[in-house]
Amino acid sequence: MAAEVRQRKPEKGGEVQPVKDEDKAIVAAPVPEEVKDHRSDGQKLRDRWRATKAWCHKHPEVPLMLVTLCIALYAIKYFASPPTTPKVFDKKSLSLYNGQKNAPYYLAIMGEVFDVTKGKKHYAEDKGYGFFVGRDASRAFITGDFKGDLDDKVTDFDEQQCKSLLEWRDFYRKTYPFKGRLDGPFYNAQGQPLKALQRVEEKAKKAKSHEELRREQEARWPSCNVRWTEADGGSVWCDDGQYPRKITTSLPDGKPTARCACFKDVGWSDVRQIYKGCHPEATHCKVLDEQPPPGADSGEGTEAGLARVKKAQAGATAQQA
Ligand code: HEM
Repeated sequence: MAAEVRQRKPEKGGEVQPVKDEDKAIVAAPVPEEVKDHRSDGQKLRDRWRATKAWCHKHPEVPLMLVTLCIALYAIKYFASPPTTPKVFDKKSLSLYNGQKNAPYYLAIMGEVFDVTKGKKHYAEDKGYGFFVGRDASRAFITGDFKGDLDDKVTDFDEQQCKSLLEWRDFYRKTYPFKGRLDGPFYNAQGQPLKALQRVEEKAKKAKSHEELRREQEARWPSCNVRWTEADGGSVWCDDGQYPRKITTSLPDGKPTARCACFKDVGWSDVRQIYKGCHPEATHCKVLDEQPPPGADSGEGTEAGLARVKKAQAGATAQQA
């Protein structure tokens, strides 16, 4: 495409300049073949890389200087602000962070101290949770006794309570700035974790894995609907034409627990019992007692077993007649 020669812009206050002949000549002049770049983009990149490498070979001191500079900058940054160890509070120093005389509001949970000033609508002295401020009241977080349990004694907590306590700590970790550790049952005066902390964490871990197992069992053997009224007593039933059976499951180091589960097939066994007085094919059963119905002998329930139950029930009806 032919290059176009535009009129020159007028100089300040001047008139529009006509295009000069020598300008036309510049544009019209062909680009010399050696000036044109016929290389592909990839080739250009490779050439540039080769040129840089050649330059580095010629000046070997420069890359070395750059590496030294980076190390020096990192060292300056590191020594200017070394990784800090958390501040350790004792009971008295923590109690001073109570919102009085413009002090911030701090509280501790499981020996971790948080600045809860941004939540002062809950923690100010005259608000609902002001009693948590300036102390570690881990126990009250679980028992809900906001008078007698405002302390950090949790050794008697069971696995589930330990798990709930850790959930409260997670809430504070996520919501409020961490300020340090409290010298007490969970951390020592140097801020190092103590056995009591480890024990709570281990118990909570167990509760978590038991919960997962329970969820797995529930997914595998879904629970029946259950109802109890004073007039009618208990009853269990399944939707979608499934059959209620009493099963007994247990968790590692836990007691076996019985519950009603729904099964798609009509079978039964010692560990999958039919509710007493309930027909094996019924989808709705009254809970009379814990024994399997007559004829529901041990071993997997089968069509033959079902026939036996029907026969036994038919016999009983005939006798009554
Ligand atoms: C063990 C029992 C309980 C404990 C330890 C507890 C603890 C707390 C704490 C620490 C807060 C402030 C959370 C924050 O920093 O944002 C809070 C807020 C709140 N709690 Fe409780 N609570 C308990 C039971 C209850 C119950 C039974 C109710 C209701 C009947 C309740 C209703 C509330 C409400 C409405 C808020 C404010 C939520 C908001 O404005 O964001 N709490 N609770």
